[in-house]
Amino acid sequence: MERLDELARIGRLDGQDGSTRPGLGPAEQEACELVEGWLADEGLVVSWDAVGNLFGRLPGSDPACPETWTGSHLDTVPNGGRFDGALGVVCAIEAVGTLAGERGPSTVAVVVFRDEEGWRFGRGFLGSRAVCDGLATAELERSDADGISVAGALAALGHAGHAARVSLPGTFIEVHVEQGPVLEGEDLPLAAVSSIVGMAGFSCTFHGSAGHAGTVPMDARRDAFAACAEFAGLLRERSIAIAGSVATIGDVRIAEPAANVVPGRVQATVDVRAPTAEALAALVEATPALAREAAARHGCSSEVEPTWRSEPVTLSAAVAGALRHAADELGVPLPGLVSGAGHDAGILAAAGVDSGMLFVRSLNGGASHRPDELSGEADLAAAIDVLAAALRGAR
Ligand code: HGY
Ligand code: MN
Ligand code: MN
Repeated sequence: MERLDELARIGRLDGQDGSTRPGLGPAEQEACELVEGWLADEGLVVSWDAVGNLFGRLPGSDPACPETWTGSHLDTVPNGGRFDGALGVVCAIEAVGTLAGERGPSTVAVVVFRDEEGWRFGRGFLGSRAVCDGLATAELERSDADGISVAGALAALGHAGHAARVSLPGTFIEVHVEQGPVLEGEDLPLAAVSSIVGMAGFSCTFHGSAGHAGTVPMDARRDAFAACAEFAGLLRERSIAIAGSVATIGDVRIAEPAANVVPGRVQATVDVRAPTAEALAALVEATPALAREAAARHGCSSEVEPTWRSEPVTLSAAVAGALRHAADELGVPLPGLVSGAGHDAGILAAAGVDSGMLFVRSLNGGASHRPDELSGEADLAAAIDVLAAALRGAR
């Protein structure tokens, strides 16, 4: 808990209780360097890859044996909580630390993946995607609201920035807060994640015409914000009609904003998710059409650019079985749960790595991506014990 508090203080902005650590920014780097010290204190072999992913390895006796990785991310959403990402890293350090005296054939590594959240550059899971598929030039050229590119951010942090192809592990286990209300509702401490929902993102631009707030009659306006607001309503209705799906517009920017100017251009992000490929496809296909319909109602036009997509992914039954066996030995119940949040484990699973996740109960009704994100110490201790036992079994 002290380590989580120390990490939470990094990137805390004045007047906020949470942490703001954008991917590939100085605060995320500072958090990684703090963890680098903890990894070294555990006697692990520390290394960084070309996009700044951080590794702490406990070498196995057989270098030819596929490695086993465990970890998560240290970047956060704006004013984010203490547990999202950081919990998986701290649990991994604690669990691998208990293995230090035992040398099995497989190298076990603690890993910190960079820029999992993706809100700065518009696409998440940068570190885990780089490890699995390298980073295409277009990825390195993505830029943030200040015009800083991924390549520029990596260079500023002293990371090479080219594709970070390292050999993938045989197994990856990520401990993460549930970020939902199920375990609290059922009074259970942990769960094994069975699958992760499909997700897709868009950047939507609505083009109208700016004008004087006082002199343009309401029936003569081409108000881009009114079009965006109409779109938000239509998208929400469509998502409610598609069972199990969710749709979020979380970032809206009015060009040249001013209280006395009718918005001429508005850009909005769209994040849609669904548990099945069919439901995801239905929502993805509907999004541009709903934007066009909303724009037309306000004499505007719309541009909808797909920015990312990942299909629903099933996690490894073998890893879930190892977690369940470890939990049984410890007398801890371990139900299965679907994750509505995306995770680096999903990227590795899609790349063919035997990936699993251990969820830890979120309190406060499952609050997350908020400063009052909370999990209890006893549940964290149980997660470390289950993870350590599962890693011991993977040695
Ligand atoms: O958006 C997500 O699901 C995760 O928090 N990156
Ligand atoms: Mn998150
Ligand atoms: Mn996370």
